[in-house]
Amino acid sequence: MSKKILLSGIKPTGRPHIGNYFGAMKQMVDVQNSGMYETYFMIADYHALNFIQDQKTMREHIYDLTLDYLAIGINPGTSVLFKQSDISAHTELTWIFDTITTMPYLMRAHAFKDAEAKNKEISVGTFNYPMLMASDILLYDADVVPVGQDQKQHIEYTRDTAMKFNNIFGETFKLPEPLIVENVAIVPGIDGRKMSKSYGNTIPLFASYEEISKAVMSIVTDSGSDIPLNVYNIHKLLKTEEELKPLYETNKGKYKILKEALIADLEAFINPLRERRNELARDPQLVKKTLEEGKARAQARAGEKLKVVKEKIGVM
Ligand code: ADP
Ligand code: TRP
Repeated sequence: MSKKILLSGIKPTGRPHIGNYFGAMKQMVDVQNSGMYETYFMIADYHALNFIQDQKTMREHIYDLTLDYLAIGINPGTSVLFKQSDISAHTELTWIFDTITTMPYLMRAHAFKDAEAKNKEISVGTFNYPMLMASDILLYDADVVPVGQDQKQHIEYTRDTAMKFNNIFGETFKLPEPLIVENVAIVPGIDGRKMSKSYGNTIPLFASYEEISKAVMSIVTDSGSDIPLNVYNIHKLLKTEEELKPLYETNKGKYKILKEALIADLEAFINPLRERRNELARDPQLVKKTLEEGKARAQARAGEKLKVVKEKIGVM
């Protein structure tokens, strides 16, 4: 029997943080290493184009994210690591989905409603974001998609779109399931809100020791309580509650000591990742080679699926 398929993607929009790691990236590596799935990991550069509209920045972010993937343990031998824009089937299938999707349906998307509520000028690309994401997933017949909580609705859009296509043109697409790990679904940032690049409240995944210290020292602590929750909630990602209990019991209200302990634990976790990334960065051809190989493998799969779709709709 052939293995089930897992696909996920990350936008190249800047340095990943520990929220991205515990919310989504760690699950990618764990599933890859379980050997139970055929795994596809994507650099969602066309999604990022909605936010990054500068040649140099885009190139740097794509390069950096490829190294990030490799440094956390994505193995380009077992997994297919590829760039979305390299596979034109993604945008072609997006167009096909556009013709069976209504505007009111896309207007119900959280991301669209948020942008509208803020009176932002919304590009057609932002409006259509869920259809490109549906194409990313459905082209590979993915069974499982590991993401953070905020992406759940996009997976629902993907399932709806697959069902709609299947209803109109006959059984073609598999319905994917999201893989969301509940206790890390929303990792808090140093201000207690959801950790996010756009809030400037992150602890970068490959942070230097100085960056870790600075970020932890600026964690907002709610004076009055024995346990500084914003410190504890990040600490919980690295150690079990049993391990943390004695530390937090003996140091009630001693925020500085608790923060120093968190800095030490973060450094112990991040140091090997940072070292590995630095090591990989020494090979100037690595990123190029990896993406070329990923392109060929992703193309083989997506090209075949698009051919089936084109037959179903009657253009081939
Ligand atoms: P950001 O909000 O920092 O821009 P992205 O939108 O690039 O993050 O998200 C990349 C992946 O990381 C997605 O799967 C998303 O669900 C997950 N993710 C982002 N922030 C968090 C968080 N604070 N906690 C858990 N998962 C997160
Ligand atoms: N929209 C996702 C995010 O913002 C990134 C993404 C694009 C993705 N295509 C995908 C995630 C396909 C999973 C599967 O994080």
